[in-house]
Amino acid sequence: MMNMLRFEHVSKRYPDGTVAVDDLHLEVAEGELVTLVGPSGCGKTTTMKMVNRLEEPTQGRILLDGRDVASYDPVKLRRRIGYVIQQVGLFPHKTVLDNTATVLHLLGRRRGESRKRAAELLDLVGLDPAVYGDRYPDQLSGGQRQRVGVARALAADPPVLLMDEPFGAVDPVVRERLQNEFLRLQAEVRKTVLFVTHDIEEAVRLGDRIAVYGQGRIEQFDSPAAVLGAPANDYVASFVGSDRGLKRLSVTPVEKGDLEQPPVVHLADPMPVAARRMRAEGARWAVVLDENDMLHGWVPTPDEDAEAGGGDPGGTVAARARRMEAWLPLGSSLKRAFSTMLQYDAGWIAVLDEGDRFLGVLTPAGLHEALRRSIDADAHDIDRTEVDLDIVTGV
Ligand SMILES: Nc1ncnc2c1ncn2[C@@H]1O[C@H](COP(=O)(O)OP(=O)(O)OP(=O)(O)O)[C@@H](O)[C@H]1O
Ligand SMILES: [Mg+2]
Repeated sequence: MMNMLRFEHVSKRYPDGTVAVDDLHLEVAEGELVTLVGPSGCGKTTTMKMVNRLEEPTQGRILLDGRDVASYDPVKLRRRIGYVIQQVGLFPHKTVLDNTATVLHLLGRRRGESRKRAAELLDLVGLDPAVYGDRYPDQLSGGQRQRVGVARALAADPPVLLMDEPFGAVDPVVRERLQNEFLRLQAEVRKTVLFVTHDIEEAVRLGDRIAVYGQGRIEQFDSPAAVLGAPANDYVASFVGSDRGLKRLSVTPVEKGDLEQPPVVHLADPMPVAARRMRAEGARWAVVLDENDMLHGWVPTPDEDAEAGGGDPGGTVAARARRMEAWLPLGSSLKRAFSTMLQYDAGWIAVLDEGDRFLGVLTPAGLHEALRRSIDADAHDIDRTEVDLDIVTGV
């Protein structure tokens, strides 16, 4: 895929001698969302500012769509790059609608047209323009202000978005909502995004890839699963935290190969027939589907000896079936699978396809295997024993 953004050996030394960015190499593909995560002062904002030339690199170059940003007229450059700055930075004396339309005014669009587009954008980020359009920034909550910042950055429909801790100033609950909204939005608009955050959880949730910054340098640039499963060094390991195994659960999907295949019987099947099959397969229980092949629950394998001694072997599966409604769509995260298991206090959960058809069951052992699989897939070069799975399996 085409790289929309490319940093080539970029360094930034401020006039006072501070080296904020040190020989940075980074590529962001078109439509990709890359999160930059690292501690305060490590050079994240400086990295962003060099893209739209609010700062100039002292070494190296940055290519936008194959062309050195230094060769662009800065004003034209900034029209191709939406920028959500740290602390939002809305104009306090302008209404929400006018704030959103700022860039469109600058682009010379007609006022009516700009306002119409601004209203659409506010709608897109979940703010009703009829309610919020005429308010001033200080009449909004922190989370609402952040959304206006995002809407404003999207106004000129730029191919590239720079977002500098756009959700930094809100509480964790609002933040998670903004993150979800942003992911939905991104699925729709498919911008090339550089997204700065302090927060490894946020980096993992949002990023297609994550660049973990140390002092002015990238310590690891990889998929969220690989950063969590196979930190490149001690610095990254300590930054992602000792609970990285748990974080990893949230970025690893349940796949077909993770599922077990217990016997499947139907509510209307005669119990003796079902029981014979279950015993033949050596199963202690079977999954029960209804007449539409939808999950109903499960049925234990009847005890042969007890029935030989006069128990009732007859009837249909329906008479013995127990309800079990713990299920997940294929592709759900392991985290969701795990939390569903806990919620239902279940030793397994059913996994269904898009048409709600039964595909198999996920057990704790399958979950464990899935986690190993994802680590193997991402990190062929590390020794399994180095990978810390205890955190997950020991819960
Ligand atoms: N104009 C400047 N002149 C001199 N030093 C600067 C300037 N701007 C930033 N710095 C320094 O460069 C380093 C990187 O700053 P930068 O703002 O890029 O960090 P950051 O990773 O965005 O931090 P934070 O997470 O706190 O926003 C810091 O040491 C900072 O003090
Ligand atoms: Mg910063």
